Amino acid sequence: MKLLRLLLLLVFIPTYAQQGGMWIPSLLKGMNQKEMKSLGMKMSASDIYDVNNSSLKDAVPHFNGGCTSEVISSKGLLLTNHHCGYGEIQAHSTVEHDYLTDGFWAMSLEEELPNPGMEVTFIVRIEDVTNQVLEGVSILKSEEDKQKKIQDNIAKISKESPKENYQGNRIRTFYEGNQYMLFVTETYKDVRLVGAPPSSIGKFGSDTDNWVWPRHTGDFSLFRIYANKDNLPAEYSEDNVPYTPKHYFPISLGGIEEGDFTLVFGYPGRTQEYLPSVAVEQLIDVINPAKIEVRDAALKVTDAFMRKDKQIKIQYASKYASIANYWKKWIGETQGLKKTNAVAVKKAFEKDFLARAKKAGKMDKYGNLFTEFEKYYTEIEPYQLSRDYFIEVAIRNVELLTVGYRLYQLEQIYNARGAQSFTDRKNNTVSSLEGTYKDYSKQVDEKVFEQLIALYAEKSPKQFLPGMLKGVNTQELTQNVYANSKLTSHNGVKELLNTSNEPEEIIKALNADPGYELIKAMMQAYIEKVAPKYEELTLELDALQRTYMKGILELSPKDARIFPDANSTMRVTYGQVKGYEPRDAVYYKPVTYLDGVIEKYVPGDYEFDVPQKLITLYNNKDYGQYGENGKMPVCFLGTNHTTGGNSGSPAIDAKGNLIGLNFDRVWEGTMSDVYYDPAICRNIMVDIRYVLFIVDKYAGATRLIDEMELVNVKKR
Ligand code: ARG
Ligand code: GLU
Repeated sequence: MKLLRLLLLLVFIPTYAQQGGMWIPSLLKGMNQKEMKSLGMKMSASDIYDVNNSSLKDAVPHFNGGCTSEVISSKGLLLTNHHCGYGEIQAHSTVEHDYLTDGFWAMSLEEELPNPGMEVTFIVRIEDVTNQVLEGVSILKSEEDKQKKIQDNIAKISKESPKENYQGNRIRTFYEGNQYMLFVTETYKDVRLVGAPPSSIGKFGSDTDNWVWPRHTGDFSLFRIYANKDNLPAEYSEDNVPYTPKHYFPISLGGIEEGDFTLVFGYPGRTQEYLPSVAVEQLIDVINPAKIEVRDAALKVTDAFMRKDKQIKIQYASKYASIANYWKKWIGETQGLKKTNAVAVKKAFEKDFLARAKKAGKMDKYGNLFTEFEKYYTEIEPYQLSRDYFIEVAIRNVELLTVGYRLYQLEQIYNARGAQSFTDRKNNTVSSLEGTYKDYSKQVDEKVFEQLIALYAEKSPKQFLPGMLKGVNTQELTQNVYANSKLTSHNGVKELLNTSNEPEEIIKALNADPGYELIKAMMQAYIEKVAPKYEELTLELDALQRTYMKGILELSPKDARIFPDANSTMRVTYGQVKGYEPRDAVYYKPVTYLDGVIEKYVPGDYEFDVPQKLITLYNNKDYGQYGENGKMPVCFLGTNHTTGGNSGSPAIDAKGNLIGLNFDRVWEGTMSDVYYDPAICRNIMVDIRYVLFIVDKYAGATRLIDEMELVNVKKR
């Protein structure tokens, strides 16, 4: 009996041990391929990534620099999340044509809507250029000289490496400066909006359900890539034609079951899996709480206005969602790090690391690491905190200050580069602020300002505050700024910037504006008192982190699974469909159904309303070829290790077919950016059958279904 238990344990531990990690697609051949096969994959590494033949990677472009997307037809049809296409959907919306509320479906190519400024980027190939980048670096003494040499080498390699004239390239570091990779890219700039469900489907559950399981969101939208007549990248033109991809995903209607292999391909943005324990402690106790408090205040104010006023709701929907998203994530992350004892786990790892360093006779290199980390993290804390307050208040949340910040940059340009540059930039700023003010409400911003400037004055480290904020009456300050500053309207800004033809005069006028005066004082205090020391200490910490990473690579056992932190480059993560236990005695199953949408339905609610047509389809069980045993699957969970940027990533089955669309993680596992725990870290995907059901049965956009390649279709 005991032996059986032990055997079972041995069988189970390895499947968990094989989870986690975001891997470089061009380096999957060894250990990863073996693991993926043991998890059930039926492809080979070269089906996923190949340079000479088309492979899965050719169907996975980076979406507008932030999200991921995938090509799902031979005519360049592109799938991503609703929240990734949100800005575009919003930009085409007005109170009369509200595509956010009602959805949008182009019923022909002619109806597809262009999006100036948007782009998607494909990866053509990936090369290891570590040796070239590090050439001549080790002989240099100071950290600054080393970094400069590295930057020079990167510029040179990037310039000289062969590529077509319509291609680009970029070099990124992996393992904190221990490895460098070159990516050759192709960027398409004519990307049109094809379809989006109403928010009551695409954003169902909104902020209440965000980062939460069980989930019932149809978080998808559809675009199409257009190319010139030679199928090459081109700026928007009426003459462009639908792009013919090197690869597109066949779509499986076969469904999924717990234990099935899944692979998620995409562009994860940033993780910090190898932070030392002191840094994690600081994140939990100091940094996250401060940022959470600022956003708490901003969100409360905005939410109250949005609930009362339809116009404000449209204007602020996108901004609100984006502020709320990381606010909620930081809360979940902090809780998760505490609950999984991440600090203790890291401390134990550090002890073990030192033991291995000792055994290997490398204490001279690694023996002082953690004392040094401790020293520098203690020293940087007030600077970090001050910086975070500044960013959260002035750059992220108070719009008047954000505008002021851009005008401040204008003044800097005049000082550095003179009148001509100033005038060019001025015209540019004026026109780009038009979009900002289209969605601006002075009353909302004033209330946000009042709350946040008070937090800034009271809570950010006092020694770095600008003089005018020390002991200030923040209520009076607010009244004065919003009564007298010209930055509260686009016309006001234009008036200021058109005071005269003389830059000197304009700058004088700017400096007399109370809003401008404040942001300038905040900015100068930051630049003089915070930035220099912050940058100096960051450079030291980066160097320590690089040494630590090098040590981990050097001292770990040969078969250790050490993956590089996310850095917005293309990665593969894999796992299985799996539920989890969020807390004692509770088990979450890995699949949700349309029944759950109806359970959550609150008529007229701004988060949980359901469109009548969807209710009718549900009542009639009218699921076409997309349902399963009389039910309509909606979302499912996997053990894939994902992060921000993986939104819109394809979820792929053992044979390379599309089964879902990644869009979130579970609340209890959001700490996976710092510490991945395979027991509770899960990614959330929309079942691809729900996407097709909405496109086909809900929207009637059958022309789109017709251009897809459906596989594993059930015979009926
Ligand atoms: N949490 C998901 C991600 O980080 C979805 C965010 C969009 N949805 C929302 N309700 N704000 O991006
Ligand atoms: N929603 C996230 C995004 O926008 C992905 C979810 C995550 O952070 O895991 O990229």
